[in-house]
Amino acid sequence: MAELDLWKDPWPLDEKQCPCDVHFTRYLAQSGRKGQRIFHFGTGSHHHVGLNAPSGDHAVLGITASEAEYSAYIAAIVGNPHLGRYYKVQFQDIYQTNFALLPEFDIVNLFHVGEFRWEKNIPYSSIDDHGLVDGMAQKLVSGGLMLLYTGSFAYDVAERIIPKVASERGLIEEPRFETLRVFRKL
Ligand SMILES: C[S@@+](CC[C@H](N)C(=O)[O-])C[C@H]1O[C@@H](n2cnc3c(N)ncnc32)[C@H](O)[C@@H]1O
Repeated sequence: MAELDLWKDPWPLDEKQCPCDVHFTRYLAQSGRKGQRIFHFGTGSHHHVGLNAPSGDHAVLGITASEAEYSAYIAAIVGNPHLGRYYKVQFQDIYQTNFALLPEFDIVNLFHVGEFRWEKNIPYSSIDDHGLVDGMAQKLVSGGLMLLYTGSFAYDVAERIIPKVASERGLIEEPRFETLRVFRKL
């Protein structure tokens, strides 16, 4: 029987191994940006971005492909009735992103570009990594930010894709923040 081969495990917060989410919330805090609509690819079971960003008056759409992480989200919004107003999580394979169903965003985090492009799922994909970065760049408002994670084991994929997308979609690179590259849309 055909089925999607998705990430099975919950990913706990481990700042030594994967600091991108912590670096992002630090970046957000120091940026002074308020009321941001944030697309966040890869919630982890810790939901660090969703749990921290709403306190700064932001709204987050997190993406997970792990049932355990999705269950952790359900428990979090049931246990904290305010949270669900600001933090939404979508369970999906990122390569099945349907841009027609997405709103515009002020910040797009694509920290895990290239990490989960698995052969077995390709027949069911609607986009590849270039399509993901390009499609999300088009979802950014003017002045919005796209962030990439230089510590990803697949960072070479993002590094290859970004120059063309940046020139075609008007993304200008800003100073790096810790492990993150930051691009601002004109
Ligand atoms: C290595 S974890 C990192 C989580 C978090 N960003 C962090 O740094 O702690 C990768 C994340 O990507 C998500 N993920 C894995 N495969 C995915 C896929 N095909 N589509 C969307 N998300 C996926 C997992 O559910 C997990 O949240």
